[in-house]
Amino acid sequence: MPKITFLVNGQEKPVDAKAEETILQAAQANGVPMESACGGNGFCMTCKCHVRKGAENLNPPNEREEAMGMSGDERLGCQATVKGDITVELES
Ligand code: FES
Repeated sequence: MPKITFLVNGQEKPVDAKAEETILQAAQANGVPMESACGGNGFCMTCKCHVRKGAENLNPPNEREEAMGMSGDERLGCQATVKGDITVELES
């Protein structure tokens, strides 16, 4: 079971994610305050986060993320699916 460590305002919040679950789904299932104004459809960027560790354990950035200008360690939480352990920092 993949583990996601969320960094929220400098605090670590580790949660267990299901394989192939999105970062957003795991956040919402565990009370992590990741926003999702567009309902997880890749149009609003309120779920934007920064992958601090384990980027290789996510799917590659998809067309929606490229269209929204994600680069470097940036991902859309609603489009990034988890295959292994990662650490992500929420936008503050
Ligand atoms: S929830 Fe809107 S872009 Fe991810």
